[in-house]
Amino acid sequence: MANLDVLCVGSSVVDIPLHPVDRSVFDTVSYPVDDISMQVGGDALNESIILSRLGARVGLVTAVGDDAAGTFITTTARSEGVDVSRVRVRRGLTTSLNIGLVQPDGERTFITNRNGSLWLTEESDLDVSGRIGFAKILAFGSIFNNPLLSGAWIADLFHRAKAAGMTVCADMVPSRTGAGIEEIAEALGYVDYFFPNASEAIALTGAHDEFEAAAVLERHGVTNTVLKVGARGCLVHNAHTTEVVPAVGRDAVDTTGAGDNFAAGYICALLRGMNSIDAAVFANGVAGLSVTRLGATAAVRSLEQAEEFIAGIDATGT
Ligand code: ADP
Ligand code: NA
Repeated sequence: MANLDVLCVGSSVVDIPLHPVDRSVFDTVSYPVDDISMQVGGDALNESIILSRLGARVGLVTAVGDDAAGTFITTTARSEGVDVSRVRVRRGLTTSLNIGLVQPDGERTFITNRNGSLWLTEESDLDVSGRIGFAKILAFGSIFNNPLLSGAWIADLFHRAKAAGMTVCADMVPSRTGAGIEEIAEALGYVDYFFPNASEAIALTGAHDEFEAAAVLERHGVTNTVLKVGARGCLVHNAHTTEVVPAVGRDAVDTTGAGDNFAAGYICALLRGMNSIDAAVFANGVAGLSVTRLGATAAVRSLEQAEEFIAGIDATGT
């Protein structure tokens, strides 16, 4: 089996954004919008696709149903050069579709299937056998995104990855079940790079601000906390430094998947040997490029393009 750079573990869904939709949607029988199409989504799927385009050898570990949406996910990931041999197709499972109602001002409401694959992915669906130790980096899409994955299972996965010499990266979403930091305290102790956004980190830690949140995560054993702070960029905190690294670019069209593009950019930078601050500059660049187009995977196409985008922004001083 060929070695990989990154093993992306987590969720894969199909997004169907409807835009523009306003509150009058229930007043009419037929409501035309500009476009209705299936797009790939989900943390692990987005990250694997962007990492592959940035030149990394990536494997995807995720669960889908044996339906058309599941086939769309697998086919798309494979066509992007992602190793899909650990995509679990579970019979009888319905692949999650996220319907996004996007208002003219960009405000979004997502309608999600509580009986879809995202909610029903079980620990036994995520098959990392023969993969731990055969990739440099474990990228865990999002802690709390698949609610049936326990903190103990995540901790065991991270522990095995670390023992095999892998670097452990993780993102998070707010818990759907009310689980708090104690649920994932053991897992956090294995995390080399943690990518929550500021509000998620503050809610998780009970801190008053992002700096205190980063300090609490450090006490839980996170080696490098890289807090995403939206249009302000990110905050890098580790034993040696605490530094806000400014965002790249300014004309955001759509921030869907910005966090996944950020994580992919950061991981790509780690593979290229960058330090925690240079990686943050590069990750802000990849995420800043990603927000210039509608959709999570529409903007970032290649490493050369991302570097040109970042250099172009530098050159004009914006
Ligand atoms: P998440 O999508 O996880 O909530 P953020 O909204 O903080 O995370 O966005 C992730 C990253 O995307 C930010 O750290 C930043 O690099 C980039 N980003 C977000 N919004 C903008 C923007 N308006 N302009 C430039 N970059 C942005
Ligand atoms: Na996030």
